[in-house]
Amino acid sequence: MTRSKVTVVGAGNVGATAAQRIFDKGYADVVLVDIVDGLPQGKALDILESGPVSGSDASIVGTNSYEETAGSDVVVITSGIARKPGMSRDDLLLTNMKIVTSVVNEVVAQSPDTVLMPVTNPLDAMAQRAHQVSGFPKNRVVGMAGILDTARFRTFLAMELNVSVESIDAWVLGGHGDSMVPVVGSTLVGGQPVSKLIPIDRLDAIVKRTQDGGAEIVNFLKTGSAYYAPSAAIVQMVESILFDKKQALPCTAYLEGEYGIDGLFVGVPVKLGSNGVEEVIEFELTDDESAALKRSADAVRELVEVMDNAGG
Ligand code: NAI
Ligand code: 2OP
Repeated sequence: MTRSKVTVVGAGNVGATAAQRIFDKGYADVVLVDIVDGLPQGKALDILESGPVSGSDASIVGTNSYEETAGSDVVVITSGIARKPGMSRDDLLLTNMKIVTSVVNEVVAQSPDTVLMPVTNPLDAMAQRAHQVSGFPKNRVVGMAGILDTARFRTFLAMELNVSVESIDAWVLGGHGDSMVPVVGSTLVGGQPVSKLIPIDRLDAIVKRTQDGGAEIVNFLKTGSAYYAPSAAIVQMVESILFDKKQALPCTAYLEGEYGIDGLFVGVPVKLGSNGVEEVIEFELTDDESAALKRSADAVRELVEVMDNAGG
């Protein structure tokens, strides 16, 4: 059997945990890249040595260069700095822009046909940057954030109603920032509209907790940000691409007029398959939801303008 190949750039919390999850599943060989000497090598060897116990025969190598990433099917980009308490995702902008720019140049030289999956924050702006720098068609750049934000929303709703998370059909759209849009109007619990099951003040509180979900974890950890739920979200996207599942998932995709947004990466429902973003799915939104999505896109556009003015 020829396994697929997945490169994960950044062997920190998110990258190493995603690499471990992919290795454990056994369906792809993994290359873990970082600039810190020894870090990706040590973590990759440690993960490899778990194979006899977990039952994975996949390979995983760690490296500080890009030759071994050649011919990757998917490249997940987690390299960059993460939030500390008091920092917003946007505070990371210019530092991570430079890191993502150099990483994308290296990756694309080795894997010109890959699907790029930016994860580094601020996510939507980094996806925009990865698209600009790679010169890839829009379908082959898809950012991870919406699955994570939606997973948080579903978790909080399930806790509130004491039901299985699997009974909750929900979507969080927009930029991966404070103005993200949990779409309450189309949220169903066991087929019933959530607004019939949870009073509006509680629902508002759950929406707010979802929007602040990243900060809630940062405030507990103090030295970094979330990585277990983020890495699980990465793996769901990797699987939909490698196995051409064509799942409908909330992902960060380049819009050209959909939802009234043009020339910008924002979180929307997409069909994700072996060609990356195979379709942007247009939900019917209420006027309020539509306006909230546009406000969220405006916040992303401001960051993109800061990046464009900074050059580099
Ligand atoms: P971390 O600090 O644990 O790991 C980052 C790694 O990137 C470090 O090992 C560092 O050495 C490496 N790195 C820095 N510059 C590099 C370069 N030029 N080439 C290769 N590697 C380089 O951070 P963590 O927690 O893994 O988060 C990574 C990024 O992902 C952050 O920007 C964070 O905000 C973002 N994030 C995004 C999420 C999303 O939903 N989109 C969710 C969680 C985190
Ligand atoms: C999160 O939402 C930090 O973006 C990351 O946890």
